[in-house]
Amino acid sequence: MNIEKLLIDKINKKGIIDVAEFIQISQFENDGYYLTNNPIGKKNDFITAPEISQMFGEIFAIFLINYWDRKIKTKFNLVELGPGRGTLLKDILRTSYINKQFLSAARLTLIEKNKNLMKLQQDILSNDKIEWSEEFLISDKKIPSIIYSNEFFDCFPVRQFYKKEKWYEKFIKYDDSEQKFSFVSQKVNNHKILKTLENFNDAKVAEISEQRKKYFNLICKFLKKHKGVFITIDYGYINPPKYLSLQTIYNHKNTHLFENIGCQDITAHVNFEELICLANEHNLNIDLFCNQKDFLISNGIQERLKALQKNKNEQVIRNLDFDYKRLVDNSQMGETFKVLVISCL
Ligand SMILES: C[S@@+](CC[C@H](N)C(=O)[O-])C[C@H]1O[C@@H](n2cnc3c(N)ncnc32)[C@H](O)[C@@H]1O
Repeated sequence: MNIEKLLIDKINKKGIIDVAEFIQISQFENDGYYLTNNPIGKKNDFITAPEISQMFGEIFAIFLINYWDRKIKTKFNLVELGPGRGTLLKDILRTSYINKQFLSAARLTLIEKNKNLMKLQQDILSNDKIEWSEEFLISDKKIPSIIYSNEFFDCFPVRQFYKKEKWYEKFIKYDDSEQKFSFVSQKVNNHKILKTLENFNDAKVAEISEQRKKYFNLICKFLKKHKGVFITIDYGYINPPKYLSLQTIYNHKNTHLFENIGCQDITAHVNFEELICLANEHNLNIDLFCNQKDFLISNGIQERLKALQKNKNEQVIRNLDFDYKRLVDNSQMGETFKVLVISCL
């Protein structure tokens, strides 16, 4: 059944659905966007840090290798969540020549829901021994794990709320005669949700992702039980923003949630304050929390840029500067993107 029809059927049955359910169906059911499309890349809907420049993956690899060298030093699972086109892992594996022990100790697992992207990853990484899984599943639980993700948690569906004296939630209805979706609001009465919304009183708007919280909890429990570290990079915040961050993108252009149903990217900023609280509840160590700029600079991206530019012509030098700025400048990815490292070793 096509996604739009699926949404209309669901709304006809329930009267209205919340924004998270709308996103869940659009992206993750039947032939939904995240199950079938290949959205990443200059020619597709959006571009991510590993696709902008090899420098991102190389610097990330240096962080991983140093971390492993300092804290693990044994066989370990190297696990990526939502690897997209597989570029980040490819760059990590190439960079690992600087520490061959790291490479030979790693047992690789990729967790990917999208069958087309999984196929792409299998082609790109065909020389490497890798296990794939659609769910969060790591088969060797006797060794510690280094788990990581880039732009993974922003894909999780969010419910949307706003405050006008009282808190209201945005829902979606469908008008059969006009054949269109529209928003309706309902006052929030659920005590648990009202308690969570207290953290957003100043912002007066809130986005809450139950699925993201559930997935992150799963990772925390895994780290606590089987040991390891989780590094996650995403655009997000500590202090709730005063705007709703949900963003829909089709072919590099901003669109509306009700357009291109099942065919466009839908993301929302990650609430890192919530992730840090959850990690604390599981008694995990918070090893690092900073923005992408500080992370990349402190791990050597400026030196890498200089090395790549050496003896190159002006055009190549300019292109490298341009990519570097995209990754690092505060007005681009540098400040909005955050890096969180939690562990139990
Ligand atoms: C925005 S893309 C980022 C891809 C890649 N990490 C990068 O930086 O280029 C999100 C990736 O996560 C995958 N994904 C989204 N939700 C997922 C889930 N619940 N389980 C597994 N993979 C998921 C998507 O299919 C895609 O590969």
